Amino acid sequence: MRTPIIAGNWKLHMNPAQTAEFVKNVKDKLPDSNKVESVIAAPAVDLDALIKASEGSNLSVAAENCYFEDEGAFTGETSPKVLKEMGVKYCIIGHSERRDYFHETDEDINKKAKAIFRNGLLPIICCGESLETREAGKEEEFVVSQIKKALDGLTSEQVSSLVIAYEPIWAIGTGKTATSDQAEEMCKTIRESIAKLYNEETAENVRIQYGGSVKPANVKELMAKPNIDGGLVGGASLEVESFLSLVNYQG
Ligand code: G3H
Repeated sequence: MRTPIIAGNWKLHMNPAQTAEFVKNVKDKLPDSNKVESVIAAPAVDLDALIKASEGSNLSVAAENCYFEDEGAFTGETSPKVLKEMGVKYCIIGHSERRDYFHETDEDINKKAKAIFRNGLLPIICCGESLETREAGKEEEFVVSQIKKALDGLTSEQVSSLVIAYEPIWAIGTGKTATSDQAEEMCKTIRESIAKLYNEETAENVRIQYGGSVKPANVKELMAKPNIDGGLVGGASLEVESFLSLVNYQG
């Protein structure tokens, strides 16, 4: 059985003091991590505060990005090796904002996935199509190709342990959620593509999140779908009450 995983992605919000205050207010109200895994992905400058504040709680910590080299002359980058040393568990890679604004390619994302595993972290690999691609009816082909390139060279054991986040770009920060059927359909397609690339067991193990205007009002309906194992949540993860409603969607 796959453990549901609800992750807040704070993007470029919050400072260390706000991070500590947020965690103080949620840490004793999180679900049992065997029932739902609660995650916060914070900006690199807040990770130290996030790790310290969440010590001894059910909160897992994620970085929002990292580089594919562990160290060297790469000004401004974040080392996956140091993320691991700090106590980070997950690292988001391939978010559409990174692909669009920072020109990250599928090849970069694949190198990052390998660097993340090399350092004992787990990737949350984002994928998702633009409105234009969906309107052209090419969304499945597009997303499956992103997944195939991101996973290239990874073992079935590695793929079993990672998380995929399907985020249609047209639903991010727009208030426009994909319908639960649209989200389920793509998550199912992703799982089937992993069964073809690897095997049924790997496909059954991999956790697939939906992201794009997930909020307390729609989380239950999305989570009721058989191929949706979690949410990657932007805006609605920034408020304490809203984050708590999301991670406690089971009641
Ligand atoms: O990583 C999170 C997604 O980009 C979704 O953001 O929940 O604000 O639409 P949103």
